[in-house]
Amino acid sequence: MDRLLVTGGAGFIGSNFVRFVVERTDVRVVVLDKLTYAASREAVEGLPSGRVELVVGDVCDAAVVGGLVAGLRGEGDAVVHFAAESHNDNSLRDPSPFVQTNIVGTFTVLEAVRRHGVRMHHVSTDEVYGDLELDDPGRFSEATAYNPSSPYSASKAGADHLVRAWVRSFGVRATLSNCSNNYGPWQHVEKFIPRQITNVLDGGRVRLYGAGANVRDWIHAEDHSSAVWTILEKGRVGQTYLVGADGERSNLEVVRLVLQLMGRDPGDFDQVTDRAGHDLRYAIDSTKLRTELGWEPAYTSFEEGLARTVEWYRAHADWWRPKKAAIEAAYAAKGQ
Ligand code: NAD
Ligand code: TYD
Repeated sequence: MDRLLVTGGAGFIGSNFVRFVVERTDVRVVVLDKLTYAASREAVEGLPSGRVELVVGDVCDAAVVGGLVAGLRGEGDAVVHFAAESHNDNSLRDPSPFVQTNIVGTFTVLEAVRRHGVRMHHVSTDEVYGDLELDDPGRFSEATAYNPSSPYSASKAGADHLVRAWVRSFGVRATLSNCSNNYGPWQHVEKFIPRQITNVLDGGRVRLYGAGANVRDWIHAEDHSSAVWTILEKGRVGQTYLVGADGERSNLEVVRLVLQLMGRDPGDFDQVTDRAGHDLRYAIDSTKLRTELGWEPAYTSFEEGLARTVEWYRAHADWWRPKKAAIEAAYAAKGQ
């Protein structure tokens, strides 16, 4: 690869991917990001200057996106599309920005890469498949039917369908990935794991939705980045790859582990109002990515990855603390 346009590159996973790329390759990166509440300018600043350029703009703005994509005409150039509204709880309060950014934004990127013949990788989520029963021995695979539950997952499913249609109808050179739940540095404090870690650091209470039986399949964001890089380099156009690291844990297990790692009583948490329509279980079978493209996760111990994440939040209170009070006030207003 020579040059990448990374949409949403100032977000949690997008910025991790940009760091992953500039630390390991000579690739030049342009980040297009609207800098919503979820973005961190700090996460992209500090990377080698001249190698990363931040353009502040909306992925739904066809003129901006078209102008940036027009500059990417080489064989080694591509768009990596991370930009999205990403939090389920917010999508239940107001679905409108989810439909706009996730669906119209993806349409805008697709039209630009179609016009200019540029390769694209679309970053999506396993939540497009809906959920599995807790006792189902199966996992999601590339063959699982779409069955999204929330406005967030429905908007991501809509975006995936557009990408597949643009591949088939217009010959757009796109690949897709559907990844499980990510954790690691720079994740917004509205999300499950950072919320609990920062609650403990702030002397607050850990908050578990319902009984905590829901299962998520955790992967470190750096492993998601390495998977996206592998697909860019070796993936077959038109193909979908599921990304996961065999990290299934119930929310109750995660909460107990966070408390234990932070030297607290593992039973010292509150059960709060459950999420409406709360998906029970996500689980990824990543055999295709591993066998066809030779990808493997580097973080094979969730416990170790989580311990390092706790230390990162301990060391970066200057970054997360200004965001914390407003997020907790919004959760408190919903009984969460
Ligand atoms: P995030 O919310 O941390 O970051 C999203 C970024 O997109 C932010 O920087 C934000 O400013 C930017 N953005 C939002 N609307 C925009 C717009 N209209 N124009 C330009 N930029 C805009 O999200 P994340 O957790 O880093 O997720 C990134 C991608 O990965 C998303 O597509 C998400 O669906 C997908 N994904 C996330 C997870 C996860 O566990 N977080 C798992 C699988 C897939
Ligand atoms: P989240 O990080 O919002 O990711 P997703 O909805 O994409 O899975 O939540 C992960 C799980 O944690 C989900 O089952 C909801 C639950 N949860 C809590 O129990 N407490 C919380 O404070 C939050 C934010 C989430």
